[in-house]
Amino acid sequence: MSRIVYVNGDYLPEEEAKVSVFDRGFLMADAVYEVTSVLDGKLLDFEGHAARLARSLSELDMQAPVGHEELLEIHRELVKRNDLVDGMIYLQVTRGNPGDRDFVFPDPETTRPTLVLFTQSKPGMADAPMSKTGAKIISIEDIRWGRRDIKTVQLLYPSMGKMAAKKAGCDDAWLIEDGFVTEGTSNNAYIVKGGRIITRDLSHDILHGITRAAVLRFAREAQMEVVERPFTIAEAKEADEAFTTSASAFVMPVVEIDGVTLGDGKPGPIAKRLREIYLEESRKTAT
Ligand code: PDD
Repeated sequence: MSRIVYVNGDYLPEEEAKVSVFDRGFLMADAVYEVTSVLDGKLLDFEGHAARLARSLSELDMQAPVGHEELLEIHRELVKRNDLVDGMIYLQVTRGNPGDRDFVFPDPETTRPTLVLFTQSKPGMADAPMSKTGAKIISIEDIRWGRRDIKTVQLLYPSMGKMAAKKAGCDDAWLIEDGFVTEGTSNNAYIVKGGRIITRDLSHDILHGITRAAVLRFAREAQMEVVERPFTIAEAKEADEAFTTSASAFVMPVVEIDGVTLGDGKPGPIAKRLREIYLEESRKTAT
């Protein structure tokens, strides 16, 4: 069965889902995105993703293509039309197609934003094998732009980071600025030392992860100690455990950093517990 994709008001077979070569998303990476996970056919934290999308759009002076209720309706309709059980919904909004290439933003009165959404099926994603073994990561310099809090589609460098990790026989990369870890290529980064969960505080330096917000809330509710501050890569290599969070991988234990094994080389107890709590609590409030 062909996947059904949403493009500017239409639900189309993926072969027919197209945008213009003049679209600013294609020419300028002038676009923002969201990834919302789906478990048992229900959306995890739709409200959080919708709120962050609204913020990304407003930071870039981009129009919202549809209202909140319609956005939720499109997500639900795509889940239904694609019989999606476990997986993700990818959403992208671009500044639209002005009909030519120009650095100057087009007039929003005449150029409407482009809205595209599609599903990605990942059966059994809550039991991903890597969550049992833990991820091996490398560290690389963070040379991205200074507004990483805006979820833009400028993903070439994160993509190169994943390729560098792969080449080194690892799973992912953490990004380093002035010796401090900012975040992972597509996730937020954490270490655990002496029972304390440490993760970088929110600023323009990192994406304000929706999973991060939920996991920190659950950790505090479970009386775990959380410290929001930058940590160095050297500190990370001496941590008891480490993990990452994202909508696509939930809480993912990290067992190796730049060839240094953390603890006994197995996912740590706090990362494992947080993954369980996150999945349990998120399923309860999924819509
Ligand atoms: N990535 N940091 C970066 C740079 C990210 O790209 C992501 C998400 C996160 C975690 O945010 P959240 O918990 O809201 O997913 C942090 C998505 C999943 C992606 O690009 O596929």
